[in-house]
This record gives sequence, C-alpha cells and structure tokens, in this order.
Amino acid sequence: MKIFVIGGAGYIGSHVVLEFLDGGHEVTVYDNLSSGARVNLSPQAAFVEGDILDPAALTAAMGRGFDAVVHLAAFKAAGESMVAPEKYSVNNITGTINILNAMCSTGVRRIVFSSSAAVYGEPAYIPIDEDHPTNPENYYGFTKLEIERFLAWYDRLKGIRYAALRYFNAAGYDGEGRVRGLEKNPANLLPVIMEAAAGKRAEVLVFGNDYPTKDGTGVRDYVHVSDLAAAHVSSLAAIDATDASLVLNLGSEEGLSVTEILETARRVTGRPIPSRAVGRRPGDPAKLVASAELARGLLGWNAGRSGVGNLVETSWNAYRREFGL
Ligand code: WQD
Repeated sequence: MKIFVIGGAGYIGSHVVLEFLDGGHEVTVYDNLSSGARVNLSPQAAFVEGDILDPAALTAAMGRGFDAVVHLAAFKAAGESMVAPEKYSVNNITGTINILNAMCSTGVRRIVFSSSAAVYGEPAYIPIDEDHPTNPENYYGFTKLEIERFLAWYDRLKGIRYAALRYFNAAGYDGEGRVRGLEKNPANLLPVIMEAAAGKRAEVLVFGNDYPTKDGTGVRDYVHVSDLAAAHVSSLAAIDATDASLVLNLGSEEGLSVTEILETARRVTGRPIPSRAVGRRPGDPAKLVASAELARGLLGWNAGRSGVGNLVETSWNAYRREFGL
C-alpha cells in the first residue's frame, strides 16, 4: 500500500515508518520538523516538509494516490496542555480536521490515528479496557478524545474507516539502531533516566514515593515503540479487510514502578543514576495498566518487545551512541 505518514519524523512516527517499510509498503512522510528530526527520516521513505495547519499544502501532498493516512502529528505534553490549551486546540484539533477534510477531497478512506490512554483519566478500575469510561484529566487527553469523536462522524458521513490506537506509555528505541534522533527536552521517565545515565542531568526526581503501589512509586504500562508501530501496520490491514473502524488499547499489560525502571536502568547501563524522591506531580494517577485483549484478539498483536530490559537496553543504545559513550 501507499502510506502517507503525518508526523513520521517524530519519535513514534519514525518507528511506524520503519514497520511499514519492513512490511513492504511505500511510505511518504509529511512533517513540519517542529519536534521531529531529519535524522529520523529513513532514506527509503519520501519526505515532504509541511504543516497540517496549511490545508493547501497538505491536500496537495496527500493528493498523490495514497491508500491510507497515518496521523501522529500532535503536541503531547499533558502538563503544558493545561497552561497552553490554545496551542493544543489549534495543532491537535484544527490540524486533524484539516487532515480529515484533505482525505475527503483527495479520496483517501483509511486512517490510523495516534490516540492515548490519556482519554481515560483517573482509572475507575485496572486493567483499563476500551469500555472504561473516558474522562480525560488534562486538555491533551481531551483533544485526543474529541478527535476520536470526529473520526466516528467522518466514518458515518464520509465512509472513512479508522483505527484509533490508545497508546499507554511508549518507550524504547528501534532494536536495529535505525532511529537516531533523541526527544528534545524530555519530561517522560525513560528519557529522563537515560539523560541522567549519560551524565547530562544530575539526578532523576522521583515524583512521589507514597502512592498505594508495590513500592510507593507510580506504576505505568510501558510499551515498546516498535510494538506500537507494528500495531499500526496490522490495524490498517484489519480496517481495510473488514471495512470497519477500530478503537484499541495498546499496552504491555504489565505495571512497572518508577523504582523498578530505575533499578533496571542502573543494572543495564552500569551507571549509578542518582535519584531523589520529591512530591507527587499534580494530575499523576497512582497506577495505569492496560488490558490489550482486544488488540490481541483482533490483530494477533502482542507486546513481545516490551520487557523492561529491552525497553531500557534499546533506549540506552540510542543515548549512548548519540552522546558518544
Ligand atoms: C511515568 C511515571 C511519573 C518523570 C505521559 C502523558 C500521557 C502519555 C504518556 C501521550 C509517572 C514518573 C516521570 C520524572 C518521575 N502521553 N516520573 N520522574 O505521565 O504516565 O504519561 O506520557 O499520550 O498522556 O501524561 O508518563 O513518563 O511522564 O511518567 O518520577 O522525571 O514516572 O510520576 O509515575 P505519564 P511519564
């Protein structure tokens, strides 16, 4: 298939591009390089530098006979979204409407969309399945949920079939070292730990050690970015074959604490990685773990690369290379 990957130069997008290329698909990346990087672009993919807020450029680029769109172009910092909602409204919501309208005018009828576990908000029960109530706690999660609603309407009114993939905590790097760009100014746990291991930051602040969890620190469901990427390929095949849309969780179904990740990182890197417990970060739930039963059943998907050792090893390989260690 001919795939148009919007946001394909970003952290998750660049891994998605590799999975499509590995599956024998033809890929064009459309990215404004605001958080993506040229160094992430596969030489096997075509590249168009452009913005989703420029409908004319977007429509022109999309109008070259694509079979499907994969949309990963969004701002994703939950904390920032609470102080700068305007930015999230424009890029995430207006940008997606532009994409959907460009699909209507160019006749592309399939889309895989990067949604998020942030649509659920504070969990009412664990593991979280797709029927869990959606009550986003932050504006970022609200934008993802609203986009899912637009998708459902465009499905009904325009025959656009979609897969909305609700990622839990994406982590790790391509096992073959093909993704070279590191995330800029990371706030997520794994990249923060990697920067500390590489000596680029003095310590890791542990946000809360008094949660009702196994060791008091926050528990999350970390899923390898290449496992996530593989689900884009198989969910596109599924919606294409069945002509029906899908909403799916993607997680490893394993809850790991901040302490467990830190200990694994110290063992894998052989570096001390100083850490210090500080207060809880506002808005952080104690524990989030997915049920990915639906993805397993419908796609035959599994999170085979999401073991904690592999998450840390593949990340460390990327950081070590970048910093020449
Ligand atoms: C993980 C755990 C922190 C940093 C975020 C978004 C969410 C989704 C994924 C896109 C928590 C703790 C973290 C640090 C720490 N994004 N932590 N020290 O908050 O689960 O999810 O990314 O869809 O919407 O909110 O991920 O990596 O920030 O935190 O102790 O320096 O690590 O408290 O328990 P989070 P995270």
